Amino acid sequence: WHYSPLTVVVIGASGDLAKKKTYPSLLSLYAGGLLPKEVQVRGYARSAKTNEQFRDGLRPYLEKTAVEKGVGTEVLEGFLEKCFYAYGGSYDDLEAFERLEGEIRGFEAQASIADPPILFNLGFESSNPKPTSSPTPKCCNRLFYFAIPANVFVSAGNAIKSKCMSTGGGFTRIIVEKPFGHDLDSCNELTQALAKNFDESHLYRIDHYLGKEMVQNLMIMRFGNVWFERLWSRTDVAAVLLTFKEPFGTDGRGGYFDKYGIIRDILQNHLLQVLTLVCMEPPGKVDGEDGGEDIRNCKVNVLKCIPEIKVEDCVLGQYEGYHDDPTVTDKSSTTPTFAAIRMFVNTPRWHGVPFILKAGKALDERKAEVRIQFKDAPAAEFMFSSPCPRNELVIRLQPREAIYMKTNVKTPGFSSQPIQSELEVDYISRFNNEHAPDAYTRLILDVLRGRTAGFVRNDELVESWKIFTPLLHKIEKDRIPPLRYEKGTRGPSVQDEVVEKWGYVRNAEYVYYNGKVL
Ligand code: BG6
Repeated sequence: WHYSPLTVVVIGASGDLAKKKTYPSLLSLYAGGLLPKEVQVRGYARSAKTNEQFRDGLRPYLEKTAVEKGVGTEVLEGFLEKCFYAYGGSYDDLEAFERLEGEIRGFEAQASIADPPILFNLGFESSNPKPTSSPTPKCCNRLFYFAIPANVFVSAGNAIKSKCMSTGGGFTRIIVEKPFGHDLDSCNELTQALAKNFDESHLYRIDHYLGKEMVQNLMIMRFGNVWFERLWSRTDVAAVLLTFKEPFGTDGRGGYFDKYGIIRDILQNHLLQVLTLVCMEPPGKVDGEDGGEDIRNCKVNVLKCIPEIKVEDCVLGQYEGYHDDPTVTDKSSTTPTFAAIRMFVNTPRWHGVPFILKAGKALDERKAEVRIQFKDAPAAEFMFSSPCPRNELVIRLQPREAIYMKTNVKTPGFSSQPIQSELEVDYISRFNNEHAPDAYTRLILDVLRGRTAGFVRNDELVESWKIFTPLLHKIEKDRIPPLRYEKGTRGPSVQDEVVEKWGYVRNAEYVYYNGKVL
């Protein structure tokens, strides 16, 4: 893959996202030899700073990554030397973008074209075509990372279009972060405004859940194993549960969160994206040039078959003390911090199977999982005097990635009664997975490689807002009061009863083994 010379421009370089995610991911790529020798990273932001001051501000964040990923100080400093600060005005300041263009052009003019293509050296798949020679003439590539609030996406986009597009055959790609609108209308508005300047080949809408190891794993797991695919339908599946739990609350992000709430923050994007990969029909191809579009087409087909969610298929909660966060300014806010919803996917494969999406802040633990629960084993209650709990395939996205199938075995010893155990792949013990790339690192590399599968296409976005917008409008218009729950708990206590009524049976007695002898 040849993307040299490369300029990365981080728009909003002093913000939290840039410092916590974008730059650390770029450092990981640099340390892994996945950025070209001819690379520069220009941070654009609104305050005046020298390069040195900017680097000093980044260093603590990068040091943290360096420790986690085993990156040496020399490498870190080498990366920082590639980082420059571009002092801009506001995000629509054309003069500032013209200055930025001059700086980029200055770098491109002196960059050599002898930089060899990046060959995969981190165990990447061998089926991708590798370039045989460097392209000529020099193609200068530009990647813009929008680490800015959505209300300035369009102005920054206009400025880039008028001043900073790559010429001469190199690419101009833009990474955009959620929120992509607030509802269907605002999403359409934003999409149309960006589409005036950029087509889909320029835009990479990031949903970092798509970059997580176990989410990336879904294709091979589903379609590379004969037994999963045979079980993967309404014939055997009773219910599917997708869960996101976080042990902290708004934590100073109340200004953003209070306007969006948990449904927009997690369900409409992260969990729904995972759901589409769980539900989709097999794509023609998974990798290579067309793989991305095949996968995205199949995901859109799923979304089109999901009817809008009804308010009675929804449990809302808010943790006690939410209003104490000084960044939550509306002290009577009814914004939900917990939601459980039921939806259906009306395809022949999934008709009638409940899909339950559950997400909450300030809960008892950090966890994200997919649970495929199978129907009761036929006649088990006739054959055995103790019940046989349902089989369940658990795909644990985090923490500690694992896949396990809850399986009934005979209780060891003289007893002949069933007990629930698991068939399991624990990633850390099986693959020594500690240095797996984090989601942002993987996705930024995908952008450089032009791989689109891990990014949300415009039509996916529109379809996903169609599913959630009527529910969100109803909740907001009627100011539906959320149920209170205590911080550090599993959320509103009524949820288990409701979720069971929806079709998912919880086996409260089962304790996940996870390396412990019971
Ligand atoms: C973000 C949400 O998209 O995802 C945050 O805005 C949330 O509220 C975060 O904390 C969770 O990401 P992860 O990777 O830590 O599960």
